Amino acid sequence: MLVFATSDKGGTGRSVTSSNVVYRHALRGGDCCYLDFDFGSPTAGAIFDLPGALAGVPDGGLHSYLMDGRPAPRRLDVWADSERDVLRGRPAGAGRLALYPGDRGRGEFPAHPGIVERCADLLIRADEEFDLVIVDLSAGRSYATEIVLAATATRPDIQARWLVFHRWTRQHIIAASSLVHGKQGILRSGAQLGHDPATLAAAIRFVRTAVPDPSSPDQAGLRPEQLAWLDFCDQRLHELAARHRVGRGAVLGEIPLDPVLQWQEQLLSDDDMWLHRIANERTVHAFDLLAGKLVDDEAWIGL
Ligand SMILES: Nc1ncnc2c1ncn2[C@@H]1O[C@H](COP(=O)(O)OP(=O)(O)O)[C@@H](O)[C@H]1O
Ligand SMILES: [Mg+2]
Repeated sequence: MLVFATSDKGGTGRSVTSSNVVYRHALRGGDCCYLDFDFGSPTAGAIFDLPGALAGVPDGGLHSYLMDGRPAPRRLDVWADSERDVLRGRPAGAGRLALYPGDRGRGEFPAHPGIVERCADLLIRADEEFDLVIVDLSAGRSYATEIVLAATATRPDIQARWLVFHRWTRQHIIAASSLVHGKQGILRSGAQLGHDPATLAAAIRFVRTAVPDPSSPDQAGLRPEQLAWLDFCDQRLHELAARHRVGRGAVLGEIPLDPVLQWQEQLLSDDDMWLHRIANERTVHAFDLLAGKLVDDEAWIGL
């Protein structure tokens, strides 16, 4: 399964959620890989605690492959290269977990035919080799988005799903909707590049991130007036989301606001949950659920 992860804004939780989803899927035994297509800021290595790739690799990463035509981009094995104890050494029964990092200090670059072709080749190879491939795209109407839209339009043998991440606020709901349905949104740009609009629309779902839950024990310190206000906001956001076609029927997952992730971009391990008791079970469960739904056709269609 090939999945493009996008968001209209930066700071939505797209990378942290996507990384945790591939991690949870690998723990269940799937072979997983993460492609860092956030070309202006390739920092996914930090989430996996890969010391040589905190802000991309010095050379030979995705920029070198796509822009310079190097034969194959570098691939890091999280189980071998992570400096976090809990990630080093593949757990029994787990699948592979690989990261394709970008190159440090190199920025965004526009799509041109050579780049689009190399991108398509890479996507096809990764999709053949792994059970789940998540491609983390630069935010907004970015070159990265244009490149993968063009790559998938020229090669109908590539089947992909799209996840649009957004926070549970007014501004983010409207922005996420516009990234998909707006004038220069994914659907229109995709159609211009040769995608069938209905097929593309059916391949897009939304993920709400860092969603506060008024009924969670985390909110125990709030006054009744504050809780009532949160409830009221939540209700209004549901109405707004429905009006903007980002409502329940279009949502694949909802990740609660998490105290660990609020402070640090990282993978939440079972030890963080059970042993150290710093991570919330609800958050890890939400990542697990999303990892399952991504590869489950019935959950995707909404049966
Ligand atoms: N569920 C969550 N609860 C709280 N904070 C979160 C959650 N998900 C992500 N974050 C935090 O939000 C910030 C932005 O997340 P990131 O994944 O880097 O966003 P993006 O890739 O969309 O720019 C990070 O500091 C991250 O740790
Ligand atoms: Mg990111």
